Amino acid sequence: MNPKFQAPRGTLDYTPPGSLALRRLQELAAEVFSRYGFLPLETPIFESTDLFTRSIGEETDIVSKEMYTFPDKKGRSLTLRPEGTASAVRAYLERGLEDTGFSRFWYFGPMFRYERPQAGRTRQFFQLGVEAFADAGPASDAEVIECFWRLCEALGLEGLQVKLNSVGCAACRGAYTAALKERLRGREGDVCEQCRTRLEKNPLRILDCKVAADQELYRDLPKLVDSLCEACAAHFAGVRGNLELLGVAYVLEPRLVRGLDYYTRTAFEITSGALGAQDAVGGGGRYDLLVEQFGGRPTPAVGFAAGVERLLMVAEKTAASLPAPYAGTAYIAALGERVGRRALELARDIRTEKLSCLLDLGPGGLGKKLKAASRLACGWALILGDAELDSGNIAVKDLASGEQKLVPLEGLVTYLKERRGHPCRTS
Ligand code: HAM
Repeated sequence: MNPKFQAPRGTLDYTPPGSLALRRLQELAAEVFSRYGFLPLETPIFESTDLFTRSIGEETDIVSKEMYTFPDKKGRSLTLRPEGTASAVRAYLERGLEDTGFSRFWYFGPMFRYERPQAGRTRQFFQLGVEAFADAGPASDAEVIECFWRLCEALGLEGLQVKLNSVGCAACRGAYTAALKERLRGREGDVCEQCRTRLEKNPLRILDCKVAADQELYRDLPKLVDSLCEACAAHFAGVRGNLELLGVAYVLEPRLVRGLDYYTRTAFEITSGALGAQDAVGGGGRYDLLVEQFGGRPTPAVGFAAGVERLLMVAEKTAASLPAPYAGTAYIAALGERVGRRALELARDIRTEKLSCLLDLGPGGLGKKLKAASRLACGWALILGDAELDSGNIAVKDLASGEQKLVPLEGLVTYLKERRGHPCRTS
C-alpha cells in the first residue's frame, strides 16, 4: 500500500481498539470527576491569541515557540488552544458562571503544541482536566490532586508519583527572584541563551531549564519553599496535611515550577517511571490571580490537566488490559436469504435490551461467519439458518468456551440477558 495522503507530522489516528480505550477513558474520567462535583465544560478549539499569551506567559516555551497561530480572513490573530485553563477562565467570566454557583468543571479534548514529536509528545494530543473556582482553602488543592490520583487508581495505573511544590504568591516570589538574580550575578555568561533572557524577564523560569550544564549550576540555588511568606507557608502546610489525611502520598520537589506562568502557591505533577523523557502524566496547581487578570472579581482557582496519550501509555504498560472491543457482542450469523427478516428482528430485540450485536446478512457459509465472529473476539455467535428458523430454535455458541446450545427463538433475548455477566455484557 502506498497511500496518497499521510497524517500531519506529530498527529495520531485513534483506530480500534485504541479508539475504544480513548472513549472508555473519557467515560471513566467523567465518572470519577462527577464524584467531586465537576461538571462538563466545552470551549472552542481556537481562541484569540492574546488569551494564551497573557495567561501562559510570553517567556514560556508554549507561547514563545509552540503555538499554532494564524490570522483569520479578517486578519484577527487566532490560536489553536495549547491547553484548557485559559479558555475555562474566559468562559467562566464571559458566560457569567460566577453568578450561577457552578464552580467546578471538567473537560476532555484535543490541544495543540508545535513541539518536536517523540514518545509521549505529539503536536495534537488530548488532555483531560478539571478547574475548581472560588475556593482558596488548601482542602480544594488536596481534593484536585486526590481526584487526579483516584482517576489513575481507577485506571489501574502503577508506579506513579505525586510531586509537590509551592511557588508562592507575587510577594514571596518577588523576593525569591531578586535573590536568584543576586546569586547568579556575574554568571550570566555561563548559562544558555534562553536562560539569559529568562533572568531578565522571568527569572523563576530558569528552574525549568532542561540544559544539563545549567541544571548543574542551579543545583545549589536556594529553594523557593524556604522563602515563602507566612500565609503561603501556612497554605502549603495545609495542602500537605490534607493530602496525608486523604491518604495520597507525595514527594516534595523544590524545583518544580511548571511550564506555565499563571501558577501561585501549589504546583504539582504526577509522573510515571514507565514513560521515557516525557515522564509527566499530568500536572496542575493553583492560579489565584488569573480570573482577576482577565477582568473578573478576585477569584481563587486550582486545577490539573493530564495527557491522555500518556495515561494510555502507562495503562498499556502497567494496568490490566482492556477487554476486546466486541467482548460483549452477539454476532448473528444469518445463513441464507429466508432468515434475513427474522435475523433483523432479533437484532432489534437484542439492542432494545441494551445488549450489542453485529448482524451478518452477507453471503458466505457458517465456517466463514464463525471465523469472522472469532476474529473480532465477539462473545457469542448466534447461528440462524433454515433448519433453525423452521424448528423455532437458534444455535447459540459461546465463543470463549466453544460450548453450543439450542435456544428457543422466543426466549433468546432472555437467555442472553440472564448471562449479562458472561461474555454478552455490554454495560
Ligand atoms: P501542562 O503541564 O502544560 O499543564 O500539560 C498537562 C499535561 O498535558 C502534561 O503533563 C502532558 O501529560 C500533556 N501534554 C502536554 N504537552 C503534550 C504534548 N505535546 N504531547 C502529549 N501530551 C502533552 C497544562 O496544560 C495546564 N493547563 C494544567 C492545569 C489545569 N493547571 C491548572 N489547571
